[in-house]
Amino acid sequence: MRQRLRTKRKSITLDSLFSQLVKYGESDRYPCHMPGHKRNGMGELPRELAGIDITEIDGFDNLHQPEDLFRRLQEKAAALYGAEESFYLVNGSTCGILSAISATVGPGETLLMDRGCHKAVYHSVYLRGLQAAYIPSGIVAGYGIREATTPEAVESALRKNPQARAVLIVSPTYEGRIADVGAIADIVHKRGIPLIVDEAHGAHLGFEEHFAPNSCRLGADLVIHSTHKTLPALTQTALLHVNGALVDRDLLRRFLRIYQTSSPSYVLMASIDNALSLCEREGKQLFGEFYSRYAEMTQQLRQCKRLRFLPQDGKRQDIGKLVIFAGDSGLSGREIYDILREKYNLQLEMAAGDYCLAMFTVGDTREGYKRMTQALLELDAEMVREDHKATGEIGRAADADRGTISPPDPEVVIPLAKAWDCKAELVSLDASRDRICAEFVNLYPPGVPLLVPGERISAQMPEYLESLRQAGLDVQGITEGETAQIRVLC
Ligand SMILES: Cc1ncc(COP(=O)(O)O)c(C=O)c1O
Repeated sequence: MRQRLRTKRKSITLDSLFSQLVKYGESDRYPCHMPGHKRNGMGELPRELAGIDITEIDGFDNLHQPEDLFRRLQEKAAALYGAEESFYLVNGSTCGILSAISATVGPGETLLMDRGCHKAVYHSVYLRGLQAAYIPSGIVAGYGIREATTPEAVESALRKNPQARAVLIVSPTYEGRIADVGAIADIVHKRGIPLIVDEAHGAHLGFEEHFAPNSCRLGADLVIHSTHKTLPALTQTALLHVNGALVDRDLLRRFLRIYQTSSPSYVLMASIDNALSLCEREGKQLFGEFYSRYAEMTQQLRQCKRLRFLPQDGKRQDIGKLVIFAGDSGLSGREIYDILREKYNLQLEMAAGDYCLAMFTVGDTREGYKRMTQALLELDAEMVREDHKATGEIGRAADADRGTISPPDPEVVIPLAKAWDCKAELVSLDASRDRICAEFVNLYPPGVPLLVPGERISAQMPEYLESLRQAGLDVQGITEGETAQIRVLC
């Protein structure tokens, strides 16, 4: 047996994981093991997919105990991003966030976090019984969207919460705002605690001179990248990077084993390998083309007279997030999103009250840019012809204080970790004023909570939520019926 294991280790070659899977799929070795399709395309399952979908068999290592294949692949990822150690993730950035927080903040301890975090951060607070303290956030002047966390805000939040065991920020934000991670890392490290950067939207950072650097190179201790969001990798794939001595890496590995499936998909992992190899081999050319095509599109869109776009603000606004505002047209973000979908067959990433968001990555073709540019120029010209003017509540992007996903930070009455387990009842939105929320309420995407269990529902919140519903947005956590209802604590 020992001999066989040794042979198994030796069998690894330096071929890409995809080519190893293809070779194995074409081989004569009969699969007396999982998965149950046995490499056959049964029903509508494509043969090409089943043929490369294996599990941890001899020669293919084990993600949870990497000895050769995954050790090599993860080392390659670390070298590419300038990290000390990297981990392949198959449960998205979600499991990287859960593991990073769990390994750095213990039950009852405080996590200092951006209020605009993805729900995974809140889920971690709930699962591990943490105290959440929030870093106050600003608004991008003139656009009403949440700004990335600033060093000053972190400094002042740490003064108020000296008991914090880790700080978590989001950069880039969903809309592409980028924080000054280097300065924030210095502030956090002065307290001797780690900085976690949810860089789910920034796996491409640092690959082109116009992009901001990735946070591993700016002093962050834990960095999470969704490779599936901005690199050519399959959905669910992500990376977790760790640096420095402030993180207990054994604990980190323990939580990765807990939060990740015990049967990681080799197809997904091969797609991470493929994406990173492309970045390594052809990154300069691919990202250079991406940048110049994107810049050309935004340059042409400057002709628009009604539509507005979040400006390319040095390295503080990420390349690739085209945030389209209705300006003073009177159209809501949802209406623009619907027009682009129905009239121009362009499927956008998301719509919010005042704006919608189209994502561009290294995977876009010239045709994609051309179609988006033409559609927006045509739509803008039509708005000018029809003399669109602002009419209602939605469509007031210039009102900096009415951020679509940034209502005022609410009052926390009961910690989330306790509140989500309390007895709750459903009441109408109208009757929910001043009650304590029992469920997450968020716009999806991006899944940033507007209300967290345990928070008081302010006098303005029901009306605000109703305005989002009326605008046709997907507000999760509200039950639809004749009247919208929300869960509140009994
Ligand atoms: C800022 C942010 N962090 C984390 C996540 C979760 O990423 P994943 O879908 O890879 O689990 C998302 C998903 O949209 C996100 O927007």
